[in-house]
Amino acid sequence: MNKRKKVLLIVISVVLAVVLLLLSTAYFVFLHRYHGKNTSAVWDKTDAYDISRVATLRKEKDKDFIILNLADVQMCDLEDIFRMPVIKKEIKYLVDTVKPDLITLTGDQTWSNENLISLKCLISWLESFGIPYAPVFGNHDYGNEKDSAVLSQNKCCDIYESAKNCLFTRGPTNLGALGNYVINVLEDGKIFRTIYMLDSGYEDKITDGQKAWALWNADGIKAACGYYPESLAFMHKPLPEYSLAYYDYRGGGETQAIGDVHVHYSLYGSAQNGFFDLAKSINVKDIVCGHQHGNNFTLLYSGVRLTFALKTGELGGFYEDENVYLNGATVLRIGQETAIESVFVDRDAYRIK
Ligand SMILES: [Fe+2]
Repeated sequence: MNKRKKVLLIVISVVLAVVLLLLSTAYFVFLHRYHGKNTSAVWDKTDAYDISRVATLRKEKDKDFIILNLADVQMCDLEDIFRMPVIKKEIKYLVDTVKPDLITLTGDQTWSNENLISLKCLISWLESFGIPYAPVFGNHDYGNEKDSAVLSQNKCCDIYESAKNCLFTRGPTNLGALGNYVINVLEDGKIFRTIYMLDSGYEDKITDGQKAWALWNADGIKAACGYYPESLAFMHKPLPEYSLAYYDYRGGGETQAIGDVHVHYSLYGSAQNGFFDLAKSINVKDIVCGHQHGNNFTLLYSGVRLTFALKTGELGGFYEDENVYLNGATVLRIGQETAIESVFVDRDAYRIK
């Protein structure tokens, strides 16, 4: 073989190898379906309660316990691959500014069927802060239709559960929703707050199973410490009481606003299944949701602060006009009292081009 033919052969081989590499990468990123572990952990309300299995965090005495909530980050591999650095920069700014003890994520961390790179990118970024974080599922985290994404819900559970600083557990598998778990925040060895993380992503309501399981947790904690600790609940979709609260507030009723009220999208989320009343009965004082990106408020309704969390980042749709740029995060500073505020980012610094 002459030299010219040899060079041609090498060029063709290299081109073929590159094409093969690109095709296989595209396959494993966009076409292959990762199903994850299909575990079974059946819960029954007669199960004995073991409080030692509940994740715990510690609050320093005389210092607020600070929660930074990121809502609807909504990254997508195909559309957002070159936009991820802007979102990462924004999250870093929020973490550096707020210095949270816990980062919560109220669902729709990713969206659409292409979620492999997005979720891995987000998790590795959150891990880099060394701060505990706690996500719940939204309606987009595992596909446009349930489990149509590259990562199924079970695979997302596997990934969250294997991340070092992530408090997520998939919880019982017979509640009609996955990713329900509880966190206790301790101060001086006593339970200061209980946090319920609930999956309201794909179901149209907080299910009967989730309600019974939440009550079982609350009663188990009460049996251990003698009281229902003041509690918070994080979920993706707003409860029907968000709408009742807003119209009561608008109509001059008893509902009070804490901070500004922005309503630019539908208030609809979960259907009525009585979770609000249950939550009140177990001393939940804060409920935080995402889902409708154009809404942002905290309304004190029937003794419970209902917070529509501020959307984080511009991806997946957000709201702005000349007066308001609904991009940032929600911060809860919890001491003897709880203060809730929206932290808005600068629209020029975090504009997605
Ligand atoms: Fe959503």
